[in-house]
Amino acid sequence: MITGRTVVAGVAGNPVAHSLSPLIHNAWLQAAGIDGIYVPFAPEADRFDRFVDGLRGGAIRGLNVTIPFKEVALSVADEVSVRARGAAAANLLVFDADGRVTADNTDGIGLLAAFRVQAPGFDPTAAPVAILGAGGAARGAASALLLAGCPEVRIVNRTLARAEAVAGALHGQVFAYPIGAAGEAFAGVGAVINATSAGLSGQGELEAPLEATPETAVVMDMVYKPLETPFLAQGRKLGRRTVDGLEMLIRQAIPSFETFFGRTPPGEVDVRALALKTLEG
Ligand code: ATR
Repeated sequence: MITGRTVVAGVAGNPVAHSLSPLIHNAWLQAAGIDGIYVPFAPEADRFDRFVDGLRGGAIRGLNVTIPFKEVALSVADEVSVRARGAAAANLLVFDADGRVTADNTDGIGLLAAFRVQAPGFDPTAAPVAILGAGGAARGAASALLLAGCPEVRIVNRTLARAEAVAGALHGQVFAYPIGAAGEAFAGVGAVINATSAGLSGQGELEAPLEATPETAVVMDMVYKPLETPFLAQGRKLGRRTVDGLEMLIRQAIPSFETFFGRTPPGEVDVRALALKTLEG
């Protein structure tokens, strides 16, 4: 039921039809009996600024932002949080009634919460973490880990120059490795995170010498389609604990929901099962 008091939030991406966020947020809204709605938007790729201007001043409470708008979302905002600045990307825009827009990023919260759920006891401050990839997802993960007190982040990438650029842009102990030196980068780590697009259905596979990680290392993949990527399967076969990208997706949605609707999502609805059903269907 849409009423005169319905609070509107949404997600902007292009394409956006594949996004699981409407499913997750609307399931929570329904279960909690909140008078709110969460809508998908697909603005023109080069018109994001105008799209956001059209929402200023009370049309919408907030907006999640996904590919390809995560970086441009920073430049349209009047204010940028520390974690969005560190990630050089936003996944959340919050709209004040007076027209101001604040960019935030809850992906790092989602990443760390997914570890807490699926690899309890993992301590980001205890050992270096290796990240595969040097795009926006990798930079966001590296920044979140450093903010959480990770002593050292190792960026491993096919194109070394991109890994060096990420390392150079972040404050802290961040080192770049070519993919050929992944074994060296994996030595002594507490976790290895795949933040490349490899492993996505239809994309090339990732060659990673996970056997070079300590037995206690956690293997995490940000890709969630398929839920168990070849990278996670390799980790599992080696006996490593694994964390999947779907848990990160759900966990980044929680602080967004709290910002939009002013309360914690209800626990009684199993959004992971709902999302899995959609992914499989
Ligand atoms: P995003 O911003 O979403 O993280 P991106 O900027 O396109 O995406 O970055 C994709 C990452 O996946 C890059 O690190 C890319 O490596 P290169 O920088 O060498 O291009 C990495 N990547 C994609 N496919 C890969 C593959 N088959 N093997 C290894 N790395 C791959």
